Amino acid sequence: MSDKPAVSSVQKGDVLLVLVDNPPVNAISQAVRAGLKEHVEKGMKDAGTKAIVIACEGRTFVAGADIREFGKPPAGPSLQELLNGMEAGDKPVVAAIHGTALGGGFEIAMACHARVAVKDAKVGLPEVKLGLLPGAGGTQRVPRVAGALVGLDLCTSGRMVPAAEALKFGLIDKIVDGDLREGAIDFARTLVGKPLKRSSQQQQPFDAAAFDKAAADVLKKSRGAMAPAKIIDCVRASTHGDFKEGEAVERKNFMELLVSDQSKAMRYVFFAEREVLKVPSLEGVNPRAVTKAGVIGSGTMGAGITISLVNSGMPVTVVENDQAALDRAMTRFKSTWERDVKLGRIDQATMDKRVALLTLTTQFEALADVDIVIEAVFEEMKLKKEIFGKLGKIVKAGAVLASNTSYLDIDAIGESSGRPADVIGMHFFSPANIMRLVEVIDGGRSAKDALATGVAVGKRMGKLPVVMGNCDGFVGNRILAAWRKVADMMIEEGAYPQDFDAAMEAWGMAMGPYAVGDLAGLDIGMRRRKEFAHLRDNEKRDTGAIADAICALGRYGQKTGAGYYKYVDGKRTVDPLVTEIIDKVSKEKGITRKPISADQMTSWVHATMVNEACKILSENIVSRPLDVDIVKLNGYGFPVWRGGPMQEADRVGLDKVLATVKDVHKVAGKGFEPSSALEWMVANNKKFADIKPGDLKGK
Ligand code: 3HC
Ligand code: NAI
Repeated sequence: MSDKPAVSSVQKGDVLLVLVDNPPVNAISQAVRAGLKEHVEKGMKDAGTKAIVIACEGRTFVAGADIREFGKPPAGPSLQELLNGMEAGDKPVVAAIHGTALGGGFEIAMACHARVAVKDAKVGLPEVKLGLLPGAGGTQRVPRVAGALVGLDLCTSGRMVPAAEALKFGLIDKIVDGDLREGAIDFARTLVGKPLKRSSQQQQPFDAAAFDKAAADVLKKSRGAMAPAKIIDCVRASTHGDFKEGEAVERKNFMELLVSDQSKAMRYVFFAEREVLKVPSLEGVNPRAVTKAGVIGSGTMGAGITISLVNSGMPVTVVENDQAALDRAMTRFKSTWERDVKLGRIDQATMDKRVALLTLTTQFEALADVDIVIEAVFEEMKLKKEIFGKLGKIVKAGAVLASNTSYLDIDAIGESSGRPADVIGMHFFSPANIMRLVEVIDGGRSAKDALATGVAVGKRMGKLPVVMGNCDGFVGNRILAAWRKVADMMIEEGAYPQDFDAAMEAWGMAMGPYAVGDLAGLDIGMRRRKEFAHLRDNEKRDTGAIADAICALGRYGQKTGAGYYKYVDGKRTVDPLVTEIIDKVSKEKGITRKPISADQMTSWVHATMVNEACKILSENIVSRPLDVDIVKLNGYGFPVWRGGPMQEADRVGLDKVLATVKDVHKVAGKGFEPSSALEWMVANNKKFADIKPGDLKGK
């Protein structure tokens, strides 16, 4: 903590420059609110001051309310009271924006009489990502200035709006090329003596039909999240009546969200996403230098990984089996970037630079001088071993060799390279240029700085790397395999895929498991079941019969027009034939089918996730419950407003979760025994929130 005041001011002739200084992001703590009130009031009262400019020290304009203060007793002055007072003042106040003016920070700016910004500044209202809504006039002032549709978009998407776009919306008055503060002071002087533009007093034309349509789209996408519906109410309220009435609607809804479990969970996720990067086992370990990368295989995953690496500015050498595969890959790279150009995300020059960063070859020798190689060939141990054997000899000493394998043993792959300390897992998710998660896997003999390099490269690619140990399926797919088995078991016992998918989607999952299966292709699982049939433990319940019967008809999912569902014109529909197959399998297994409630489906799935996660924590594959939450949230469509399976378990109560695990075990049998770590937690009255890194190791 610095001794400097959070807010100070300096007189610049007839303009008072008020400066916020609350590192790292100038969050609005009580001291910032009190300081802003004091200095703005000082400027308003001082006869020599004709205008006021609010600017920030450090890397950014105010990035929002101090999230750590939520849930604590409120300490005045409130932001609303401060902003209403400032806006009502009779001297112009101008916000000088650099970095990101977010949430309460953008609300401060909107309560000013004008806003100027540097070219690369961004503004936004990301409260929705914390399960909240803008609570200091943002849902009222933004639509009053930019229109209800823009207001709805900003408040419900939480997206950051570049300065140029904000200028177009009228949310920013001027982009300053030179010195921001000088520019803001000059601009403030032009407002002196003129009628002040108060955002709360503006009104834009309102197209009710267009708003209703946009609101319906938002609700469709909100998947059980509470905040979007409340935001719609608030923005609608801004379109009629006076500001005070709208503000009251906003306040009521904000307070309801502030105390909700959803917002609590999403605030937890905000901090967990930052905490996950502070890996206890890698503290103080420096990554190796990486300036060039190689990718082996340019299929679904290799192509996505390459795009993501190149987008981060990294030169990439791609190695494939043959020229035809390389040509296909180049077409895919170019079409991805051409689309970005078309959508205005990048310009043609950036695309050309990206293409120039690529070297496409069939020669492994071209990888000799890269600093990291990411392998993404077929999921076959023999092939991976052969490739890592070559890499071990060809690639320069000190380079990191990573495999994108979904399930295979990283240490065995490392062994084949002859330099297992350099070998790590980097398990990306499809589509790899979009999905944020990357599991960074310690094979057991991986060097710490090799793992730190995986994390650093992942971060550079804009990903969220989670470091973990080596086990079948690692964290994400291992938990997925466990609960998918329970789902298949419930299908044998009485549920149907469409009921299961509907229950999971209503619970907030991005997609139900059977719709996902059809999308990914059912043949992959079928081949795995055949390949590993000889390893199957006959004491474990086998749940593959329904999927095998469906695949036996050549129904591999969407790509063949049918799987668990039938696809007519791309539309998913229930197929009576599948119902017949399911009933037949149940009968053959001697199961009397009985209805299963949606609540049972979701609670059994959730309890199974938590139970498997506890086994993973006990084996110290990861050391913190938050590692599991971040994996499931970012790679597996877990609803963010539930905060991840572990956070959700704390909400449900671990005793209840354990009771459900025991019910699942009775039906699922071997492999689904309650985790001793979960039993220990219940016996000791613990919550996952209490667990420190490593607390569950060996429990
Ligand atoms: N409150 C408290 N701490 C915050 C914070 C906030 N609003 N925003 C960031 N921090 C902390 C982070 O936890 C992190 O702490 P750490 O170093 O101890 O891990 C540190 O500041 C730096 O943050 P990042 O690592 O995220 O830094 P980046 O440079 O990557 O990103 C940022 C900067 C874009 C500003 C990003 O931090 C961000 O998006 N912050 C949150 C913005 C937000 O959600 N604002 C709305 C708050 S709610 C609100 O304003 C309600 C109002 O309507 C009443
Ligand atoms: P894919 O079949 O789409 O691509 C594999 C590519 O590897 C092909 O283009 C093939 O030509 C190339 N290849 C095969 N042998 C090669 C060799 N000797 N040298 C150079 N290139 C060779 O497979 P996909 O889906 O991209 O999977 C790759 C890896 O990523 C697998 O290990 C898989 O388990 C894993 N993975 C897949 C995910 C997915 O959703 N598809 C998700 C996460 C991981």
